[in-house]
Order: sequence, then structure tokens, then C-alpha cells
Amino acid sequence: MSSPPSSLWGSSPGDGRSDGRHSQFTYRHLSQMASYNTSCPLRVVAHIDLDCFYAQAEMVRLGVPEDQPLAVQQWQGLIAVNYPARAYGIGRHCNVTEAKKLCPQLIHQHVATWREGDDKWAYRPDAADHVATDKVSLDPYRLESRRILAVIKEHLPHDLQKVEKAGIDEVFLDLSAHAHAVLLERFPELTSPPPDDDPSALLPMPPLSALEWQADALVDLDDEHTEFDDPDWDDVALLIASEIVRNIRAAIREKLKYTCSAGVARNKLLSKLGSGHNKPNQQTVIRNRAVRHFLSGFKFTKFRNLGGKLGEQLRQAFNTDSVQDLLAVSVEQLKSKFGDDTGVWIYDTLRGIDTSEVNSRTQIKSMLSAKSFRPSINTVEQARKWLQIFAADIFSRLVEEGVLENKRRPKTITLHHRHYAQTRSRQSPIHQGRLLDEETLLSLAKSLLDQIVAEGHVWPCTNLSLSVGGFDQGISRNMGIDGFLLKGEEAQVVKLGSKMLMKEEDAQETQPAEKRRRIDSSGIRQFLTKKEQTPCTGSDGAVMGNNGGETLGSLGSEVSPGAAGNPNGLTAPDEASFSQANHRQTSTTVHLCPRCDSRLESSEALQNHQDWHFAKDLQEQERVTSTFVSQPSTAGNGRPAPAPVKRPGRPKKKERGQSKLNFG
Ligand code: CTP
Ligand code: CA
Ligand code: CA
Repeated sequence: MSSPPSSLWGSSPGDGRSDGRHSQFTYRHLSQMASYNTSCPLRVVAHIDLDCFYAQAEMVRLGVPEDQPLAVQQWQGLIAVNYPARAYGIGRHCNVTEAKKLCPQLIHQHVATWREGDDKWAYRPDAADHVATDKVSLDPYRLESRRILAVIKEHLPHDLQKVEKAGIDEVFLDLSAHAHAVLLERFPELTSPPPDDDPSALLPMPPLSALEWQADALVDLDDEHTEFDDPDWDDVALLIASEIVRNIRAAIREKLKYTCSAGVARNKLLSKLGSGHNKPNQQTVIRNRAVRHFLSGFKFTKFRNLGGKLGEQLRQAFNTDSVQDLLAVSVEQLKSKFGDDTGVWIYDTLRGIDTSEVNSRTQIKSMLSAKSFRPSINTVEQARKWLQIFAADIFSRLVEEGVLENKRRPKTITLHHRHYAQTRSRQSPIHQGRLLDEETLLSLAKSLLDQIVAEGHVWPCTNLSLSVGGFDQGISRNMGIDGFLLKGEEAQVVKLGSKMLMKEEDAQETQPAEKRRRIDSSGIRQFLTKKEQTPCTGSDGAVMGNNGGETLGSLGSEVSPGAAGNPNGLTAPDEASFSQANHRQTSTTVHLCPRCDSRLESSEALQNHQDWHFAKDLQEQERVTSTFVSQPSTAGNGRPAPAPVKRPGRPKKKERGQSKLNFG
């Protein structure tokens, strides 16, 4: 394996751009593309994120015209707002009354709900008045999410796909191997063996002087580069990736009517920043020669993993939150303040360097259904009615997942019960011998409830949650920096989790400690866990924290109206119903959001939750600042105007310095 690029900014493996005849990349770099080498300077990664996802799902379902303002309502709050409605100043921070004032013709569709005593979720006109008896169902959106994922996979070659579902409405794609195959096809000269069979020989230059980026929003190049420089293979690889992404987006649009935005760059960090940069319905390409320019305008607190405690410490340490300012800080300084691993990680992140892998881990590994009660419930009968809803909810998702057919079925079922500050849990195995049905789930849940009730002092109960897990023991290797737990810290986290989630004597270890341990990757993980819980205010003023003892979800979480400090019902995870890939079998870890201290059940739930913070921040940033990413429509270093919203079918616009790419 060759060493990573020596250039801090671009992908340049050498001292800069080519000598005119040769590329700056080697034959080895080219072949690294095919094996998804995460340090490969020709690597291409995309992030695709659906625009106002739940809102689009309702528009598609209801056949609402595209320019009709619409928001998705949950009790009195809004959880998704389409772009026509955003133009009226409506956002997730609004409640229905405020939103209607801003835009009287707004359609506010309530999410589907399960209802006490009913065995199927439904869209109900009176749902908003039934917070005590209804539980939100996100099944319609999960279903759409799956259809979208299927279209994405259909449009990638079967043997060359690396797709990571990163949330309900987003995916990362490592397109390196696919783009590599296209490169070889279009430029057969690349298939010749290197001179003297030396893999470190430089490639010939691409036979092109300019590239056709079509409707893509291109980020302006760094100061030392111009659009008149000849493109190198990294540019061509990104162009190919961007063509692939454009086709995928067109297919999603055509087949399912959804618009989405995408970022195309050399890694996950950059592609994710890119997808949020020109929403809606636009893709943004961050060429390697534009990375520094792209990042310099961000506050580092907008980066994943730098939005919370670590970001705050960094800000305090250097008295700035600007990426640009921190570029002057040496890696040694960062190491001395944050430790070696975290110091290097910060140093790299500020420079857009991220070698975390795109993980194909789309199989669901756990499912959870939960509800917080306001008012609290006081009898076994009431609790049992909710267990019936949870069992039906989980079972319908099991059926949808096809887990019954393909023999992937959960091995354990866990019930959490909260009484004041005390959370009790009971877990039992799910017998593998007989057919798993809703009745079985329900009777297991009821017996877990009976065990808890037998302890006494269990009423009033303020929260119940049922989860199933143990679908798959596989733990993916390189999950990116936020997917890991520190070895040394694990004991502490497990202890913390046990204290919060289980009575000591109840804790059932279902896996050997070795298996439960995740790889020690970096000291950064310590910033993702916290001991103390203090609710905090999100950027929109809504209280983001949980209610002191739950491990409920982020996406799809909801709150009862009137919950203290959260009148809009935005985000408090009082109720949840979600599935997780890589959810560990027993709830022995706690993943705390460093931004708002929400406690999440798995690293993926945490990731989803952080993505939400992240997207909100980007959105906020876009609202208040004129963006600096767009077509190269201004001269030199000037800041171009934000790219106009592109709609499918709009005629292509030629960019300065970009002409038709002639392949072959
Ligand atoms: N969501 C939610 N609760 C949160 C965060 C997000 O219910 N705490 C839902 C939103 O309703 C949304 C979907 O998850 O539709 C995806 O979230 P996100 O991508 O952050 O926002 P979008 O609504 O899709 O808007 P954008 O166009 O900015 O991506
Ligand atoms: Ca989205
Ligand atoms: Ca998203």
C-alpha cells in the first residue's frame, strides 16, 4: 500500500500538479480505486440525501402539486417542511398555528398513528387530539426509504456496489470501484501495464482539457488553481462519479417522484457537507483542488463530531470557531491539548481528510417501539394494551423486512419500564424453534411485564419500550470515527449503561465481553459519551434532551404537547419506533449526543441524530449566509451567487472553463 497523499489539500501524491505530460497519480493509485482503498487519492464517495423527506413522502402519497406548501404534523408540531412552505419562513421550529398564520394555504398532514386497541397504523384525521392514545408510526416513510434504496442499488452494478444507509433518508456510496471500471472502459490506455511494470510510475495525463459538469454545482477552486488548468484523473473520477449520481437521482425522480440532493467528493466528510450545500434537488461536486476553499468558509462546529463537547473544547482552546483560523495550529499543538489520536483526527478533519469506510450494513439488527406517557399509566391492563401496539408495530416491520422468510429473526426481546427516575428492564430469549408471530412477541412481552410488576412499586409508569435484537452478531470493521467505543472507556460506558438501563441483578450478558467490545480506533469517542445529563436548547430553541433515563430514538421521536420547554413537539425522544443496523443486543451502552445530551441506543441512532443536528445547522447556515459554493460563475476568487434550483429537464448551462468531455 502506498502512503497517503502528501498534499494537505488536494489529492496530490506528489509536489503539486503534473509536469504536463504525466499525471500526478500512479498506476498503484489507479488500482487502489478498484479495491476501495480509503487512502486512495482517486477515491470517489457520494452522499445522497432526500429533500424534506417526510414532506415529500406525503406529497407523493397524496398527489399534491410540487409547488403546494406542505408540512408534516406530529401532534401540534411540525417534523418536516417542504421547500415551498420554507419559502414562507415555516420551519420545524413552528407549530401548526404559527405555520398557518405564515401560510394559510399550508397543508399540514399528520403522521400516521397506531391507536390503542387497533392493530394497524393508519392516517387518522383526529390524530392530533389523541396524543394519549396514539403512537406515531413512521412505517410509511420506512417503506419509501426502502424503495428508494432499492432504486439506488438497481442503478449500480451488482458486483461493484458499496452502499451505506446512513439514516432514513440518506446513503453514502463509495463509487471508487465503479468509477474505476468506467475509467478503464473509456480510457483503454489505462489498461496497459505500467512502464517497467513499476506500479509507482506516473499515469499519462487524461486526454482532455476540460470537463462537462452539466448541472452540478461546482465548488470554486482553491486560490492556486484555475479552471484553465488541465484536469487530472481525480477530476475525471469525480466527473464519472457525478454522472453516476446524476443518473441515480434521475431514476429516483422518475420512478418514485422524489427529489434529492447529493455531494460528490473524495470522502464521507466532504460528500456529506456537499449534499447539504445546495438543497433542494442539486448535486455539489467538491474537487480535490477545491477542498480548502470549500472548508474555509465553515465553522468547524458544523462538522460531524465537532458540533458538541469536543468542538466546544476546541473553540475554547483557540478562542475561535473558524476552520480558517485553526489551520495555523500545528498538529503538535493539537496533540498536546487533545491527545495524539484526537489531535491528529482534528488536524485531518480541518483539512477535509477522512479515511472512514463506507459500510454496506443495511441489514436491520434491532427494532424498538416505545412510548412515553403523559399522563402516566397506572394499571397492568393499560400497559398490556401498549404492549399489543408495540408487538404489532415490531411484527409488521419484521414481516416487511422479510426476516420471517429468510430466517433472520431476532433472538432476544427486551422490555424497559420507567417509574419516576427508576428504569427497570427484563430481557428474554426468543425461542428459535417455532414460528415467530405477533402473538408470541406479545406473550413474551407480557411475561416480561409481569416480572417487572411483581417487584412492586411500578406505578405510575411514564415510559415503556419494547425492543427485539440479536439478528446478526457481525460487527463491521471500519465504521468511521464515530462508530467506535474506546476500549479503556468501555467498562465505564457499560457501567453507565447498566446503571441507567438495568438493575444490576437484571443485566443479562448475552455475548462474551470480547464480542461486545468494539475496535479501539481513536480517542475521539470519549467526546461522544457523557456522564451528566442536562437538557439543552437546540438551534431552533427546542429542548433536545431526553427525559432522564430513556434510550429512545432520534429520527421519528416525538413529544407530547405541553412538554416543558418544548411547545413545538419537535424532538424530545419521548416516543420512538425505529430499527437499527448494528444495534447491540443488550442495552449495555449508552450513546450520548455531545450537542444536546440526548441518549441514544446505538451508534447508528446517534449517527442519525447527529446527522439531523448537522443538516439543521447546514440549513441554518444556508439561510443566514450567502453560500460560497456554486458554479464557477464569478471570476478569480470572487464568491459566486448560490446556484439556482435545478429542475429535471432544465436546459444545461455551460460553465466557464468547462466544455464537452469527449470520451474516446
Ligand atoms: N426527522 C425527524 N426527527 C428529527 C430529525 C429528522 O422526524 N429529529 C425526520 C424529518 O421529518 C425528515 C427526515 O427525518 O423528513 C430526514 O431528516 P433531514 O434529512 O434532517 O431533513 P429533511 O426534512 O429531509 O430536510 P432536508 O431537505 O433539509 O434534508
Ligand atoms: Ca433530508
Ligand atoms: Ca438526512
